[in-house]
Amino acid sequence: MLTDAAVATDGGRIAWVGSQADARQHYPGLAPVEVSGALLPGFVDCHTHAIFGAPRLDDHQRRALGESYQAIAAQGGGILQSVRDVRERGAEELEQLARQRLLTLRAHGSTTIEVKSGYGLDLESEVKQLRVARRLAESERLSLVPTFLGAHEVPPEFRSQRESYIRLVIEDMLPAVAREGLATACDVFCEPGVFSVTEARSVLVAARGHGLSLKLHADELEGSGGAELAAELGAVSADHLAGVSDVGIRALAASATVAVLLPATMSFLGRLRQAPGRRLIEAGAAIALASDFNPGSSPTVGLPLVMSLAVSQLGLRHSEALLAVTVNAAAALGLAHDRGQIAPGFAADLVACAVADWREVAYWVGANLVTDVWTGGSACPRQTGPVSLGFHVEA
Ligand code: NIG
Ligand code: FE
Repeated sequence: MLTDAAVATDGGRIAWVGSQADARQHYPGLAPVEVSGALLPGFVDCHTHAIFGAPRLDDHQRRALGESYQAIAAQGGGILQSVRDVRERGAEELEQLARQRLLTLRAHGSTTIEVKSGYGLDLESEVKQLRVARRLAESERLSLVPTFLGAHEVPPEFRSQRESYIRLVIEDMLPAVAREGLATACDVFCEPGVFSVTEARSVLVAARGHGLSLKLHADELEGSGGAELAAELGAVSADHLAGVSDVGIRALAASATVAVLLPATMSFLGRLRQAPGRRLIEAGAAIALASDFNPGSSPTVGLPLVMSLAVSQLGLRHSEALLAVTVNAAAALGLAHDRGQIAPGFAADLVACAVADWREVAYWVGANLVTDVWTGGSACPRQTGPVSLGFHVEA
């Protein structure tokens, strides 16, 4: 950590880092932008499902009344509710809804955000979601990293013929998504009652054949060997892991696969069990943190809150939580060489926070201490006033 630090940027990249006194010598005559507080690398949110329509308030209420996430899903709520919604909604409306939500994530410090499909579950609607992500990346000062999640759930029309759906994902959707360059990675929801380890393996092996990197929703609610599969296939990340086994922990520790932990999800679902963050670190696994931003299990817009939960619920040190939303989160997207560090050559994505001690970022629970955000070396417009994350009703 540097105090009285200065950063020079050039062409969207960090060119130089040093003391303010040295900066005055190196760059005489330049008027610097003064920043007070802590200057951090732009946060990398490496796991979101940010392209969706309506919030799922009824699911939220039913859980409060004692129903589980799985029971609500089994009755047609859950993911399938968002699937019906995304299929019916036009691309322009989805784009407008996602824009206000993603700019809110950026206002909380996230400058690179992974975005999954998975609420379409047919070729046309999966492609619609991914094209929305592409248009947003082209029109907003934000890096979006798209992931194809066609195997998020079995859609209703394939309920009695799940092998046919997996064949559709492998033979139709993956080639189309790869041909149009709509995704850089492929993910599968590998969980008892959703997709088995064998099914997940067949989708991921096919995705690898199309040059996509691999991610996995692994052992989210119950353990089923997802972490082991992610390590075996050389996935860039294994995500969730609240139900990971000791064998899974050892497999991740011995691999280059990043363990992405999503404590806001378990908290929002009212689960008492969190992923074993401390044990994963002590075993030697690399840990990243993400919001899992989605309408069902984590309407969480800020990584500082996730860092706070990681310190208090997962036993991470403040420094580990910061690494987990920067360096390690970039690694979970295959971008470790490019994002997540304030060092020469890295993208000039920066976040200023109004704090005297950088650990406050993970301390003031639920506060947004981010004052300024830069992407590619330029200041992003500030969000002014309250923003509607659902459907705004005109007065
Ligand atoms: O990461 N587990 C699967 N997907 C999301 C939930 C999506 C939803 O409920 O809409 C998750 O928790
Ligand atoms: Fe998820």
